[in-house]
Amino acid sequence: MNIRCAQVADLMNMQHCNLLCLPENYQLKYYMYHGLSWPQLSYIAEDDKQRIVGYVLAKMEEDDDEPHGHITSLAVQREYRRLGLAQKLMNQTARAMVEIYNCRYVSLHVRVSNRAAYHLYSVVLGFKTTETEPKYYADGEDAYAMRRDLVDWARQLDIKPPHPVKFFQVDRRHRRQGKENQSAPAAAIEAAPSVQAVTDDVSRMQVTDAADTDQHKDSAAAGGKTAEASKENTTASDQPSATKKKHKKRK
Ligand code: ACO
Repeated sequence: MNIRCAQVADLMNMQHCNLLCLPENYQLKYYMYHGLSWPQLSYIAEDDKQRIVGYVLAKMEEDDDEPHGHITSLAVQREYRRLGLAQKLMNQTARAMVEIYNCRYVSLHVRVSNRAAYHLYSVVLGFKTTETEPKYYADGEDAYAMRRDLVDWARQLDIKPPHPVKFFQVDRRHRRQGKENQSAPAAAIEAAPSVQAVTDDVSRMQVTDAADTDQHKDSAAAGGKTAEASKENTTASDQPSATKKKHKKRK
């Protein structure tokens, strides 16, 4: 199994993987938008035959008070779950966010019913829930808005941000967040591989995700679509056609 930075040529296969795994789907141009705007932030996991089996699609939120990373979409194909791929993909993009964009934190949204992803984010990666956004998804489901502080994580792994003074500056909000993260499980600070493509010899047995607590299939059946892209500060033509849902404006 190999994890590497996504190339433009990968975007169509990432979209295919997304269609297999999630009800939140996007037009190809939305993948292009990510790939062309922040080419270092999205990663793919591929098998021995270079088939994409998982991906993380990520970007920068640059219009907020503090620019930060944002996970637009994460998915791993069913047969390849519980191998640690999502955790590695998330750590790769987090490292790139710190090393390239000086990001002090990364945010995301997840369905309140998606217990697999919520467990990964909260227990394994040290994300904290900042709020619950009612009816965030087009099918009416609420979302947890979550954030992962990257400052302590980067310090512990000796990840070098381009502007260390700004990155490590202590303000009250982040000092508090940093303390919370000190109690995060050790897995949250698991060493992420370098930003360069790396070979990951996943040797664990493939475990069918029997519990499979995600309810994305049900949501798909219900026609659930994400409001994610409608928050983009882009023209209407940049937004995925699937995006219909009004949502709370980002602070
Ligand atoms: N139930 C409980 N905990 C889980 C589960 C699960 N089904 N899956 C992962 N975890 C936790 C476990 O602690 C796991 O460690 P362990 O296997 O040693 O117990 C840890 O997360 C790491 O899991 P990974 O193997 O890295 O996760 P995986 O590669 O299986 O991918 C993912 C997890 C992405 C949630 C996958 O189940 C998936 O693709 N689901 C459908 C798509 C989805 O829900 N994506 C997230 C939507 S939110 C967003 O995109 C921002």
